[in-house]
Amino acid sequence: MARRKKIYEGKAKTLFEGPEPGTIVQYFKDDATAFNAEKRDVIEGKGVLNNMLSEYFMTGLTNIGVPNHFIRRMNMREQLVRACEIIPLEIIVRNFAAGSISKRLGIEEGTQLPRPVIEYCYKDDALGDPLVSEEHIAAFGWATQQDMDDIVSLALRVNDFLSGVMYGVGIKLVDFKIEVGRVYDGDFQRLIVADEISPDSCRLWDVETGQKLDKDVFRRDLGSLTDAYSEVAKRLGVMPKGAVPMKPTLIN
Ligand code: TMP
Ligand code: ASP
Repeated sequence: MARRKKIYEGKAKTLFEGPEPGTIVQYFKDDATAFNAEKRDVIEGKGVLNNMLSEYFMTGLTNIGVPNHFIRRMNMREQLVRACEIIPLEIIVRNFAAGSISKRLGIEEGTQLPRPVIEYCYKDDALGDPLVSEEHIAAFGWATQQDMDDIVSLALRVNDFLSGVMYGVGIKLVDFKIEVGRVYDGDFQRLIVADEISPDSCRLWDVETGQKLDKDVFRRDLGSLTDAYSEVAKRLGVMPKGAVPMKPTLIN
């Protein structure tokens, strides 16, 4: 196979130069990290599941007109995406309190928020992705006011879509994180949803039992992460029979 150029290696994904200009191959690794990579492990099958699930969510977004970077899945671990300039923000949308907002504001986990709450973190591993305000974003030029309007609109559309899709399979979308990138179409520029949407970047709780089906299973040592992600994939009809090389108990 021809050698291809690695562009970037992150904690859970590696990016390679794509076959055509303006494209990137996004490779999903099995590596799991939490708490800014203080906790790490390799979880067999995670990359395959996240590749398939991110494809599923991004394709759904495309179908309802929410622009995103996904072009097509190439194989079990790789997808072709459109190259974009990533805005250096993690955009978090919360429907129910959990994780850092519960700790920060003393709100019991699971409490429904009065409306979706959007937060921004500055993407900088060395600083531990600190929470920032729109004031910081504007003052330091990470995004313009127009970008921020577009980011809020994208984030809320993703939230409505994902909440509905997940609720339809008995899963509550507690919160999630997206990243957004800038693309240029001739003289115009616009923002698109980038990175990934997967149980690594969402909190997903079973509606009936409250069982966690997301990366908190790894963060909090609650059991098998692949079992949790496979359950999400199975409910959504994403996991092709026999295609994922995992424990036989997971295949039915
Ligand atoms: P938090 O409660 O830890 O701030 O996380 C909020 C949401 O963002 C949760 O769904 C997990 C996701 N998230 C990421 O995708 N990447 C991260 O680095 C962090 C800290 C959270
Ligand atoms: N993704 C972050 C890390 O690797 C944090 C997290 O998801 O909890 O450390």
